[in-house]
Amino acid sequence: MRTYTLCHHPSGAVVRRLPAARSDRLYDVVDRSDLPLRTLCKGSSLCGQCWVHVTAGGEALPPPAPDEQALLDRHAPGVADARLACKLVLPPGVEGLTVATAYWSPGER
Ligand code: FES
Repeated sequence: MRTYTLCHHPSGAVVRRLPAARSDRLYDVVDRSDLPLRTLCKGSSLCGQCWVHVTAGGEALPPPAPDEQALLDRHAPGVADARLACKLVLPPGVEGLTVATAYWSPGER
């Protein structure tokens, strides 16, 4: 099963493992869960608030498109592993990614 592993940053503690369908964005998967995801635009790729660290598997991702990169440059300047959750989809053949934020707590249920 294709899975996003959600962790706390910077500790790396696993907070949750969430299954993902082929077309699910990370935003959709987290939105269906009980975990928070920062957003002002509700997944419309306008606010830049939903950025996460991709801490494992990121090498399989295509580079950010110019619109994503512009939001990352503004909202996560200098964060090399940052990607927008509302743009993040598991590429074909990739079974999982590990992503992290400072606000996903290891104690959350
Ligand atoms: S949710 Fe606003 S840019 Fe991703």
